[in-house]
Amino acid sequence: MIAMTDELLQDAAQRARDFLNGVQTRPVGARADAVEAATALGGALPETGCDMHDVLARLDGLGSPAATGNAGPRYFGFVTGGTHPAALAANWLAAAWDQNGFSRMSSPIAAIIEDIAIEWLVDLLHLPEGTGGGFVTGATTANFTALAAARSKVLADAGWNVEAQGLFGAPDITVIVGEEAHPTLAKSLGLLGLGRERVRRVPVDAQGRMRTDALPDIAGPAIVCLQAGNVNSGAFDPAHEICPALADTGAWVHVDGAFGLWAAASREQAHLFRGYELAHSWAGDAHKWLNVSYDSGLAFVREPRHLSNAMGISASYLPQGEAREPFAFTPESSRRARGIEIWAVLSALGREGVSDLVARNCAQARRLAEGLAAAGHDILNEVSLNQVVAAFGDAERTGRIIAAIQEDGTCWCGGTNWRGRTALRLSVSSWATSDADIEQSLDAIVRIARETE
Ligand SMILES: Cc1ncc(COP(=O)(O)O)c(C=O)c1O
Repeated sequence: MIAMTDELLQDAAQRARDFLNGVQTRPVGARADAVEAATALGGALPETGCDMHDVLARLDGLGSPAATGNAGPRYFGFVTGGTHPAALAANWLAAAWDQNGFSRMSSPIAAIIEDIAIEWLVDLLHLPEGTGGGFVTGATTANFTALAAARSKVLADAGWNVEAQGLFGAPDITVIVGEEAHPTLAKSLGLLGLGRERVRRVPVDAQGRMRTDALPDIAGPAIVCLQAGNVNSGAFDPAHEICPALADTGAWVHVDGAFGLWAAASREQAHLFRGYELAHSWAGDAHKWLNVSYDSGLAFVREPRHLSNAMGISASYLPQGEAREPFAFTPESSRRARGIEIWAVLSALGREGVSDLVARNCAQARRLAEGLAAAGHDILNEVSLNQVVAAFGDAERTGRIIAAIQEDGTCWCGGTNWRGRTALRLSVSSWATSDADIEQSLDAIVRIARETE
């Protein structure tokens, strides 16, 4: 049994190595024929099993070519990092450990590492001392999780126990978001019974930042959702103006900082995060800029008891000690121990390394924008973080250029619509991206644009 597992893991490790070596030079987007070929993994459910090496060989042969090349250095889609080697290696070991991260009893080591990872993250991101949190699947769930704590607290202040009574007959909650809030934030609000559309939307400026002068007056239970990092422009709502303005209202301020949260860890970008430390909760993604394996979201709450009020459960067979129990801070119970890869990357990079990673990617984004502008193309955003939004004339031509870039395969970037214009969207978020990768990608984009009428 052990010998069998041993051989299989060696086989998997070799295939993983080959994939990662090849991902540097293969087309970044998966080719259509490879995606088509991967459907051969299907067919009727096998009636009988087969050799595990054959299973792996089939998965590698048909699956690897159809995988998106975001583990490589020239993937600029969405806000997708590539798994850092320290995260990948820790992920393999943790998968072998096979820990249920649900409780301190089911996995003491998972709980210990989560405690450490939270402490380190709170320090790294300059969040208030005592901030607690939970490790969830991504920023969508992190927003949901932190907003559940917000809902609990603002209704408790109004004499209502939402966990016990639900929302039927509850006092109204005023929910305020920016016009440019990410759609997953609206989804989280909907899941919490607060409504995707009953929110009050605050007008934004040309970069998508909430306008402080347009904030409505607030009375009674209220939740205000700020955004640190617009998914297109990278812009930050002015928390340094909004948080002090709300200080006396009793409103809960929540921050969707899916990727922008990491600005706080960078010496050069930390100024963007000014005022955000005054908020009550923050959502972020470790699988974005910290470059850990999917899936890995972070929900932080200044006063952790509000999160455990919303997420805690009790049963006679469950521990209820003094120590932090992971299941009391997340919507999930059984889950993988996500803190492990976070601990590994923070250990490998240290405070300096994370700061350099963020600063380097931001400088690379600025270089992409400069190069595209020098070639005569329109840059539609202020490149204050790692995001570049560019247009190549009208919507039709821009769309054709985006398709041609994806087909060319030197790099991968997606499209968007930014303030009414069809645009190319570049997001530089990977530890693996070198300055040479940026020049290579820039040359390809400029060449493709030149060749496209
Ligand atoms: C601002 C913002 N919020 C939320 C999300 C959703 O993140 P996830 O896909 O990890 O749930 C994103 C994703 O890009 C985002 O940019």
